[in-house]
This record gives sequence, C-alpha cells and structure tokens, in this order.
Amino acid sequence: MTSATSPSPATPSQQAKSTAIAAGSLKDVIAAPTAICTIDGIEGKLIYRGYSIEDLAAHATYDEVVYLLWDGELPTRSQLDAFSTRLAGSREVPRVVIDHLRMIPAEAHPLAVLRSGVSLLAHYDAQSESMDPQATRAKAERLLGQVPTIVTARARLRKGEEPVPPRSDLPAASNFLWMLFGKEPDEVTAHAMDVAFILHAEHEFNASSFVARVAAGTYVDLHSSLTAAIAALKGPRHGGANEDVIEMIEEVGSPDHAEKWARDRLQRYLSASREERARPELRFPGMGHAVYKTWDPRARILQKLAGEVANLHGEGWIAEIQETVRTVAAEGLGLNPNVDYYSAGLYHALGIPSDLFTSIFATARTAGYVAHIEEQLGGGRLIRPRGEYTGPKDRTLVPIDQR
Ligand code: COA
Repeated sequence: MTSATSPSPATPSQQAKSTAIAAGSLKDVIAAPTAICTIDGIEGKLIYRGYSIEDLAAHATYDEVVYLLWDGELPTRSQLDAFSTRLAGSREVPRVVIDHLRMIPAEAHPLAVLRSGVSLLAHYDAQSESMDPQATRAKAERLLGQVPTIVTARARLRKGEEPVPPRSDLPAASNFLWMLFGKEPDEVTAHAMDVAFILHAEHEFNASSFVARVAAGTYVDLHSSLTAAIAALKGPRHGGANEDVIEMIEEVGSPDHAEKWARDRLQRYLSASREERARPELRFPGMGHAVYKTWDPRARILQKLAGEVANLHGEGWIAEIQETVRTVAAEGLGLNPNVDYYSAGLYHALGIPSDLFTSIFATARTAGYVAHIEEQLGGGRLIRPRGEYTGPKDRTLVPIDQR
C-alpha cells in the first residue's frame, strides 16, 4: 500500500504531462474527449470520424468531407446534393462587408483582413447572436460559403480589381480559384485543390481549433469563436508556415542553389543556442510537427498532386528545390515535411500570392472549426485551466512615494 507521505513514482504518461506543462506547450496532454478526428503521430495516420485521410482524399469530395465532419456520417447521394446546393447558395457576402474590405489599407495581411471580415459578417447576420443549434448550423453553412468570398474579393480589391462573384455551379475549391482569377481551373488543378481542401479541413486539437473550443467553451456565438480561431491560425508556428516555405523557395531561386542553401541553414541552426533554435527564421519551414514523428500523411498525398500541377504549369523546379532541401533536413536533423511544405508548392505553382496561403488554409479549415465549436457547445464545459505559479511570493507593497 502506498503511504500518504511517499507518493508512488510518476508513470511515463504523468512524466510526459508534467514536462509539457513545464514547457507551457500542453504537448501530448489530452484536453477533452472528441469524436471528430484523431491522429497517430507515430504511425503517421490521420482519421476523420473513423475514415483514413488517404481513403477520403481518394474517394470523397470536400463537400462530402464537410458533411462527415459536421454530422458524423458520410451523406447519401440525395443528402449530399441537398447539402451542396445549400452551401453553394450561401456564397454571397453582403455588399456592405465588401465595402468595408475596400477601406482596409492595401498592406494589411490577408488573414488579418479575413479575421476582421468574419467578425464583420456577424453584424449583418440576423442570427449571429443565436445559440440555438439549428441557427448555429445555418450560420455555419453560410460562413463556409462566405469565407472564401471574402478571401478572394479582398485579394482582388487590393490589386485594384473588382471581386468576381461566386458561382453556385462549381465545387468549393474550383469556385475559390474562379473568384480569385476569374477563370475556371483545369481538371487536374481542380482535383488537386479539392484534395488540398480535404487535407486541410480538420486536424484534431491543433492550436487554432483548440482556440475555437476555448471560445465556444464560454458559450459564445459561432462568429466570435471562428474569429478567435482565425486569429490563432495566423502565427508562423501554425498556419503561417506555408508562407515561409515560399520565402525559402524564392530565396533559393533555382534547384542549383538548393543544396548550398539547405546546408547553410542546417549549419546556422546547429550553431545556434537552444533559445535561438525556437525562432521560426532559423528553422526549416514546413518541416517538423508537434504530433507527427514521421511523415505527415497529408504531405505524402500533396507531394504527388503538387508535383503534377507544378509540371502542368511549367513549374517543376519548385519540387526539385523542395526535394533537395527536404533531403538535407532529413539527413541533418531527422525532420520530415508537414502539410505546409507541399501545399505551398501547389499554390505557388498556381500563381497564388504567398500571403494568401494561410487564408486558403482557413477557408478549408472552417469545416473543422465548426465541427469543434458545435461539439464544444453541445455538452462541453468552460475551459479554464490553472497556471503553475512561478512568480514572487509574499511581497509587501511599498507605497508609490516611497519606491
Ligand atoms: N527546423 C529545425 N528544427 C526543428 C524543426 C524545424 N522545422 N522542427 C522541429 N525542430 C527540432 C527542434 O529544434 C527541436 O530540437 P531539440 O529537441 O534539439 O530542441 C525538436 O525538433 C522538436 O521541436 P519542438 O519545437 O520542440 O517541437 P514542437 O512540436 O514544439 O514544434 C513545430 C512543432 C511545428 C512548431 C516545429 O516543428 C516548427 O517550428 N516547424 C516549422 C514551422 C512549421 O512548419 N509549422 C507548421 C506546422 S503544421
């Protein structure tokens, strides 16, 4: 029997938990039950509602995946048709919101504009304050259609071009490219973008989805929780990483320079102090992952598709640079690519400006955010952890005139 004065030694999982708490990362800490998605970081598996990401990418469309994430089951043909019709009919954004977008300075980051845009949409949605589950779902369907409209409208407005109105006859990813370029994508590109949307739709308790859950835990409305999630997505340790991948590709410039660039980066990283190594600019962008200890399964799927699209658009050099850098990072640091590494290559090959990449991520991930927000609202509690206090104790206040 364990005595009260000599506690039993911590188990490996308790040790991992206290290490994560000490590091302030909550890494590997199970925060709440969820039936939406799970990841096996050792095997490199990603599962949405019981289906592997490989299966979904090969046999489902983005709309089917959204239905699955929100309702827990894949739709029948008639359920999908009705769902897709509703989603496609929700793509218009109130004129007044577009007018707001016109007034934001051109240099504003697109994701910052999206964050403001989603917040603005709330003021023009008659149900925005309603916490009724049916109203939340109706708002979710609208937001899924409106988020890409805001992203693409703003992308055009900042170049002095007028927005291209959404089309209800195109799937979500093709409609995105249509609204961005005013041109329908070819079949290979349309398929690759649809798969990219599926791969980005959901990813368990990643930082921004967790933020969405924390907000929803306060029992706040959908627009508020989604705005909070998009704000958290913006950081370079999270969604912002794919922009850094393009910076890398542009800095390298040509496949001939890739090996030298990668070896220099490796050298700089290895000679940096432990603190400095945490800085995104010293790391290999799009590599490593908080959960996957092997290849991110989404990276494997996108590597192939991005390569096909790049070749089709005469941009095969991008994949060459990426392969060289990947090999050096793997050999030197045992790093593996994550989803951002190849989504960046795909979007770059399509001529999409790199500062829009995270907004594409947000567009697709709106599906996952909604699933988490609904799950949290439907029975979750207020999320309110405690801090391990490390500050000074028992101080006596000296009145201001005597300090
Ligand atoms: N470049 C160089 N080293 C990296 C690295 C990268 N991209 N990713 C991880 N590492 C190293 C760390 O320096 C650390 O080494 P150490 O144990 O010697 O200190 C080790 O791998 C673990 O890294 P850590 O930062 O503790 O892991 P994490 O789980 O907290 O970090 C990321 C995960 C995503 C923040 C990290 O991999 C990263 O910065 N990647 C680049 C940005 C990116 O691609 N983000 C998108 C994720 S989808």
